[in-house]
Amino acid sequence: MIIAIDGPAGAGKSTIAKKVADSLGYIYIDTGAMYRAFTYELLTSSISLSDIEEITKVLEKTDIEFKNNEIFLNNLNVTNEIRSKNVTANVSVVSAIPQVREKLVYLQRKIASESNSILDGRDIGTVVFPDAELKIFLTASVKIRALRRYNELIAKDKNIDINEIEIEIEKRDKLDSSRETSPLIKATDAIEIDTSNLSIDEVVNTILKLAEEICENESL
Ligand code: CDP
Ligand code: CDP
Repeated sequence: MIIAIDGPAGAGKSTIAKKVADSLGYIYIDTGAMYRAFTYELLTSSISLSDIEEITKVLEKTDIEFKNNEIFLNNLNVTNEIRSKNVTANVSVVSAIPQVREKLVYLQRKIASESNSILDGRDIGTVVFPDAELKIFLTASVKIRALRRYNELIAKDKNIDINEIEIEIEKRDKLDSSRETSPLIKATDAIEIDTSNLSIDEVVNTILKLAEEICENESL
């Protein structure tokens, strides 16, 4: 069984996917973390993000794995590093490169083939697993999504500016939705949930109920 969760930044995908995975005993695959890890690799190797030939060479040598919900890039734990401002500012450019998507989608399918899985990202229900048994599209207003990110970041950085976060989120949404390869769009058969006024547990319970219904129907 595959559960696909897509949607824009700050809609609640990873928080909710992790909880659903824990409840069901599924593995959780944070595909955004994979695009971030590869972006981190390019930035730390000072490779130009427009040098596709060099990027393709690096891709061939790149391995990305998850262990206990932490992410490893070529055996190095980069769980914290991939959340930096620099990675966030560049990840949408890197993830628009078709060669990058091809390799990471291959890895995502390989990891998910090992167990029942829940994946979150932008193209899970449309491209990675178009036949997923359950597809959810999470949304929330940009103001709410910026406020959620602000609340997360303010503990670490007192100088954080909510307007700056809102601008960054809008810019990334635009790039992710308008790119040619695998843009962020709702799959026609996805169930949309606007999380703006819902608690985390309300969303988790809605998804668990939908998953239960599917399991019951399949065992009939
Ligand atoms: O956590 P946040 O919502 O900030 O983003 P993320 O899920 O970590 O994803 C970071 C970026 O990776 C997105 O803005 C997309 O550019 C890219 N991404 C993608 O292109 N396809 C995916 N399946 C997942 C992420
Ligand atoms: O993965 P994505 O970028 O879609 O969002 P997230 O990182 O899971 O969620 C962003 C923040 O919103 C987290 O701090 C969540 O705790 C919070 N959140 C919330 O307050 N209410 C929800 N219904 C969903 C998420």
